[in-house]
Amino acid sequence: MDAEALKSEALSAIEAASTADELDGLRVRFLGRKSELKQALRGVRDRESGMALNAARESIEEAIEARQTTLQQAELSRALSEGAVDVTLPGDRVKRGRLHPITQIRREVEDIFVGLGYEVVDGDEVETVEYIFDKLNMPEGHVTRSPLHTYYLNGDIVLRTETSASQVRMMESKPPPVYIVSLGRVYRRDTPEPKRYPIFHQVEGLAVDKGITLADLKGTLQLLLRRLFGDERDVRIRTSFFPFTEPSVEADVQCFICNGKGCRVCEYEGWIEVGGAGMVDPNVFVAVGYDPDEVSGFAFGWGLERIFMLRHGLPDIRMLWQDDIRLLEQF
Ligand code: PHE
Repeated sequence: MDAEALKSEALSAIEAASTADELDGLRVRFLGRKSELKQALRGVRDRESGMALNAARESIEEAIEARQTTLQQAELSRALSEGAVDVTLPGDRVKRGRLHPITQIRREVEDIFVGLGYEVVDGDEVETVEYIFDKLNMPEGHVTRSPLHTYYLNGDIVLRTETSASQVRMMESKPPPVYIVSLGRVYRRDTPEPKRYPIFHQVEGLAVDKGITLADLKGTLQLLLRRLFGDERDVRIRTSFFPFTEPSVEADVQCFICNGKGCRVCEYEGWIEVGGAGMVDPNVFVAVGYDPDEVSGFAFGWGLERIFMLRHGLPDIRMLWQDDIRLLEQF
């Protein structure tokens, strides 16, 4: 057999191999146990042809090794370039979260009162009958004391039905003057429907000082309502009743859809009811240890959901609890 011819056939095949598999095949074909070369080596009789065959074997082995290295490097650089990150390409958009509409309006209302020099205080959602009813001058047998209206947790412990308990706690904690707002969740045993939900949020405001009058209350509510519903809005107050205020009022804002002419939103009244307020009842002052002959004050408590729904025409309060991103994204 011609060692030279075999070697040159092998070397050119190796040079042409383009994959590791192909190269393995060539290794078997030229160097394997049944290869021409191995058979020739087994049958060799003279030293010279033995040396020639061994030299051919070595060259073929070297060539395979070299080709293998080349192929591996090519494979590596292909993998690198395929997996490479092009830092100049635009990135994936990261969705930004946002504050829930109620949190937004809560902060907006807080800002308005901070601007007026009020202090923002936290109240507890779990209250006692004493603070939520007794000290707020609620007579025995008042409907809101019923377990059909209020969630009783345990004996005299309830989920607060209104933020007004924070008025009492504030006044007990320090002497007048007091200018506070307290915002947070309240709980009432209601069935969810478009205008009602068993959990909602209120803003409670309280101002107690020497010589505070109903005119101060009206001015403050007017400012708040104009900030919330637009500067041209008129505000009016009507008489109402709450056990802890005397006189008690209900505040209305001029309809911001029809400017008071009358439309569907205001039910052709021209006015939209926003919430309750009044002058702090002397009995409440006595309950907290203030002298009703020395100081006077006003309080109000409004639903944040109601304000939000009015302002944005949201038809159903339950939508604020559904966490539907399509709604939330709009605010
Ligand atoms: N707490 C009353 C309510 O929940 C609102 C209110 C607060 C009225 C303060 C007068 C004074 O309906």
